Amino acid sequence: LVLVLDFGGQYNQLIARRVREAHVYSEMISYKTPIAEIRARNPKGIIFSGGPASVNQEGAPEVDPAIYDLGIPILGICYGMQLMTIQLGGKVEHPEVREYGKALLQVDEPKGIWEGLGGERQCWMSHGDSVVTLPEGFKVAAHTEHTPVAAMINETRQFYAVQFHPEVKHTPDGQKMLEHFLTDICGCKGDWTMGSFIDTQVKQIREKVGDRRVLCALSGGVDSSVAAVLVHRAIGDQLTCVYVDHGFMRKNESVEVKKIFTEQFHLNLVFVDASERFMSKVEGISDPETKRKNIGNEFIRLFEDEARKLGKIDFLVQGTLYPDIVESGTDTAETIKSHHNVGGLPEDMEFDLIEPLRMLYKDEVREVGAKLGIPDEIVSRQPFPGPGLAIRILGEITLEKLDLLREADAIIIDEVRKAGLYKDIWQTFGVLPSTIKSVGVMGDSRTYAYPIIVRAVTSEDAMTADWARLPYDLMEKISTRIVNEVNGVNRVVYDITSKPPGTIEWE
Ligand code: XMP
Repeated sequence: LVLVLDFGGQYNQLIARRVREAHVYSEMISYKTPIAEIRARNPKGIIFSGGPASVNQEGAPEVDPAIYDLGIPILGICYGMQLMTIQLGGKVEHPEVREYGKALLQVDEPKGIWEGLGGERQCWMSHGDSVVTLPEGFKVAAHTEHTPVAAMINETRQFYAVQFHPEVKHTPDGQKMLEHFLTDICGCKGDWTMGSFIDTQVKQIREKVGDRRVLCALSGGVDSSVAAVLVHRAIGDQLTCVYVDHGFMRKNESVEVKKIFTEQFHLNLVFVDASERFMSKVEGISDPETKRKNIGNEFIRLFEDEARKLGKIDFLVQGTLYPDIVESGTDTAETIKSHHNVGGLPEDMEFDLIEPLRMLYKDEVREVGAKLGIPDEIVSRQPFPGPGLAIRILGEITLEKLDLLREADAIIIDEVRKAGLYKDIWQTFGVLPSTIKSVGVMGDSRTYAYPIIVRAVTSEDAMTADWARLPYDLMEKISTRIVNEVNGVNRVVYDITSKPPGTIEWE
């Protein structure tokens, strides 16, 4: 285990992820974690992350200096380097020339984590402050044009520090440096896999749950599916899953989910067909926020009803991923937007949470899912919003419009799959702007019907997105098939807006 101490910054978890990519298990924890707890976890190495603060500013995040006496190798990155500097007696200042972006790194001491990496190489800089006086026992290991101390080393104590960011792709040899730190310095074997992650989680979940009961809201999306199967592997029938079909699902989705999870995984699944209840809550409503709110509230009510029927439940499983936590704010990262899983869960319900995926990124979760034997159609499924097709029909929702959109959406997904692009695209779907009709001609007759908007975006984490450059012949197939096969549609348009300024969904 290698622990990453988090000093803020949106993408610090990337460091933990890079460590896992080197087959060493890693978790990111708050810099406020007490030393006793860190020691108890017995990490082979500690990494101090970057962060937005300046070490010289009042109230800047600090660690208990006792951490330097644990005898554990430490790697400080950016803010982590500056913190190490001042806590060990050196000096950090705000230089006149700052360095942002690509810089040429000159490695002066090609040993330790820079073994075999002497000479010039590219690195990524992003800092306001710089180290001006080294702490005792350190020497300069690398410099750049504007940063005389771009890296420093204390070989006796096994402390390493870099001003640049080895975790980002713009430092092409960053991963090698991290690997040297992990294997040569910390003595990690590098034999950790997602399989060992599953074993560890299974053990921890068993210990935590004992013989108590656990509930999981299963949506059929990747995150909740992987979380449910993982917890099921740990505690079997002590887990009950509730799947709510609100009637706004994609074509065949509910049937598939039911089949896979009951027949293949033998999950204890309560399948609630609530389409009429939900329909009655959105009938006649066209305001997007009201739709969302009504669906969210109804979901909570239904979930509570089902939970009550089951009697005493002690834990709730959530498929929370690391980016969800960042979005909702951690100790250090700024809150961007509060995140609701599956339309928001009851606030006043008394559950303890089980979130086995909270340290992982989406693609890591997919890897776990595949290892658990979850079929590709679930594991590689694109994200789908909690309120489903209800927020992809602009205007009032009717059963006819839902059917129409479901068919068009299925064609889009089918063609994108056939073109072999499904996995490269973050989301691809249809939107029905049901307040618009346009004139067309089919055969010899005039038509007056709905358009379908095709939306396809590429993204890393849904915070930003770009419209996908789908090949023209694929667009043509999608357009022809929708107009020919979906009654009530006579036109297909493509959304070419990125996020920002647009959002991925239309409502
Ligand atoms: P936007 O439209 O804000 O969407 O760019 C960002 C991502 O979030 C998904 N999304 C939701 N997911 N419940 C969810 O679980 C919701 O209410 C919800 N609304 C949007 C959206 O599909 C995209 O992946």
